Amino acid sequence: MFDECVIRNTRFAPARFCAPLAGYTHSAFRRLLTEFGGCGAVWTEMLAAKQILRESFAASPYLRRGAAESRLVFQLMVREGDPLDRILGRLGEHGVEAVDLNLACDAMTIRAQQAGSALFENLSALRAVVGQARRHWPGLLTAKIRLGSRRADWQASFGERLRLLEENGVDAVTLHPRFFEDKFRRCARHELLPWAASLTRLPLIANGDFTGPDSVRAQAEHLRPACAVMIGRMAIARPWLFSAWDGPVNVDHAVVWQRMFDNIVEDFPPAVALRRVQMFTKYFAANFAFGHQFYVAVSNAPSLGEAQRQAEDFFSRSPATLAQPTVAGL
Ligand SMILES: Cc1cc2nc3c(=O)[nH]c(=O)nc-3n(C[C@H](O)[C@H](O)[C@H](O)COP(=O)(O)O)c2cc1C
Repeated sequence: MFDECVIRNTRFAPARFCAPLAGYTHSAFRRLLTEFGGCGAVWTEMLAAKQILRESFAASPYLRRGAAESRLVFQLMVREGDPLDRILGRLGEHGVEAVDLNLACDAMTIRAQQAGSALFENLSALRAVVGQARRHWPGLLTAKIRLGSRRADWQASFGERLRLLEENGVDAVTLHPRFFEDKFRRCARHELLPWAASLTRLPLIANGDFTGPDSVRAQAEHLRPACAVMIGRMAIARPWLFSAWDGPVNVDHAVVWQRMFDNIVEDFPPAVALRRVQMFTKYFAANFAFGHQFYVAVSNAPSLGEAQRQAEDFFSRSPATLAQPTVAGL
């Protein structure tokens, strides 16, 4: 399932993508994921669109792109009035092929800027932003959405926005079928995908709660109209998830953790690197029966050296792994 898809002349093989996760899908993680392979496209974490005008594409830990990262989608946190002509122009100058608009993030800081879910809700601002993005961006343009706000008329409101995206030239939509207010509670409602697909000709990428091939197969009937699947949290916990899609791969957890540590240290100043290592460890620790102790030890480490020592100590005890880690609630 989802071996390949074509979105406006661009072929993705496989059609299994890594989701944008703020604080996680930075270049250090993407390089690790790319080494494993098997992922058809990776989304950057949400990037403040205006920041693109100032960042160095060679040095920024968010924009840096490894030579092997072939399908990278730059996700933007955009606000009405952002100079999209210059922002998208700069992305084009630096060889970016695909841009995604974040219309799903419900964090207070993002909503306060009239971006993410607030932009999705504001029809006129949404029309202006998407129209402008399309005018200034010849490459692949996608949008990531949720179901909207839980209101009596949410279905009409959702359909109206889907039409707006289609009419304004978006090439595909990623649907994480939860309401904004749900955050990560309840299950992603993939049973709504056939209905969503009946409202639009746009290719739909299904996202939410997938943990690997079995969980995708279990939803096969609902996912029939989707062109691709996108996985977030489980890909952080198991960066080999996509490479192990069609059969088991040998994984040395200690080596993977160390590789991620090295990539992070290469990209970030020490204080930020320590935080990023701790954040990654939260998800990675889900692979182990007593992973919580590992996570606590690393999160209490005052320095990178101590975090590494704690990891070495943990792995030296050959910790028991879990067949299926849980990332719900992380
Ligand atoms: C820590 C964290 C950070 C996230 N950051 C972003 C983001 O920057 N942009 C975005 O569109 N979604 C973001 N998301 C949502 C994910 O992309 C995805 O839609 C969600 O986690 C459901 O997919 P999953 O169950 O496979 O993780 C984030 C989610 C988490 C848990």
